Amino acid sequence: MNARTEWTASDIGDLTGKVVIVTGANSGLGFETSRALLTAGAHVVMTMRTAEKAAAAKSALLNDLGEVSLETMLLDLADLESIQHFSEEFHGKHSQLDLLVNNAGIMMTDAQLTIDGFESQLGTNHLGHFALTGRLLDLITATPGARVVSLSSLAHGWGFMEFGNLMFQNGSYTPRAAYGRSKLANLLFTYELQRRFESAGIDATSVAAHPGTAGTGLADHMFNRWYLRPLKALVFLGIQTPKQGARPSLRAATDPSATGGEYFGPSGRKEYRGAPVRVESSPASHSEVDAAKLWTESERLTGVNYESLRTPTQ
Ligand SMILES: NC(=O)c1ccc[n+]([C@@H]2O[C@H](COP(=O)([O-])OP(=O)(O)OC[C@H]3O[C@@H](n4cnc5c(N)ncnc54)[C@H](OP(=O)(O)O)[C@@H]3O)[C@@H](O)[C@H]2O)c1
Repeated sequence: MNARTEWTASDIGDLTGKVVIVTGANSGLGFETSRALLTAGAHVVMTMRTAEKAAAAKSALLNDLGEVSLETMLLDLADLESIQHFSEEFHGKHSQLDLLVNNAGIMMTDAQLTIDGFESQLGTNHLGHFALTGRLLDLITATPGARVVSLSSLAHGWGFMEFGNLMFQNGSYTPRAAYGRSKLANLLFTYELQRRFESAGIDATSVAAHPGTAGTGLADHMFNRWYLRPLKALVFLGIQTPKQGARPSLRAATDPSATGGEYFGPSGRKEYRGAPVRVESSPASHSEVDAAKLWTESERLTGVNYESLRTPTQ
């Protein structure tokens, strides 16, 4: 790619020999991200919640792509035990991890709790990926040039941290605020992880991406209300395809010029659509105070401690 042309998936270099995990890979952006990484030669471990979804995604990609290095594993990010099992299975099979794409997510769901009692959007989108990354940290730090990509959203701008009420207790829950908080947490985590890699002198980078808007299954639970069904077709007309929406993740994951702490999103108006470029996130996402508090709280809640990335004050 040169400065005058747009970045496209054809700019992804040869990834032969790289081991990649993509969470939430059976649909939407995760599926398309996996497809492009497989096409570039990576060994991609696609995580799903059920064996049926794994079989369907695998056969669809093998039909389309022919011989690729694809593996599926079960992972439920709303269940700390499942995360631990996944990590044990992955460690049993692999001794390197070049790229972790923390992609899975839920959006604006009704109030509910994860198995471990966390508000489900924060629990799945942030705490689940925090625990997963921590459980894989030994492989990440042992793999030269490893990269962690975390998916955020334009909705991070709605988010605010309130450490005394992280889980929106006592009737304070709204689907929108909880989604915004979870996506803000994804960015606070991305930037704090990068700072900790740097201060520990580890050759790994942490970057973030957001897709703008893309027609995936993320809002299906809202469109499934009968009176909103006709709206779905209309909305999908105006937004990007999953393949287009996956481009910022793919650039964040593979562009050799990407440096730790960068954030990629679409180039177009309001970052809704367009070619993937470096974008800015909100001032709140850069709060080092909130990032440190969230880190400590995430370690306490998940019981996953990032021993090798401890700061002097911890
Ligand atoms: N689409 C957009 O416009 C948009 C905009 C901004 C940000 N994003 C972000 O992009 C990411 C991908 O979303 P998408 O648009 O591709 O939506 P999607 O098609 O609904 O995909 C979400 C994926 O996450 C998985 N997932 C949900 N809960 C999980 C859990 N507890 N454990 C493990 N996996 C779980 C889903 O699995 P199941 O099939 O089992 O549910 C699915 O594979 C999300 O982080 C989202 O916040 C999307």
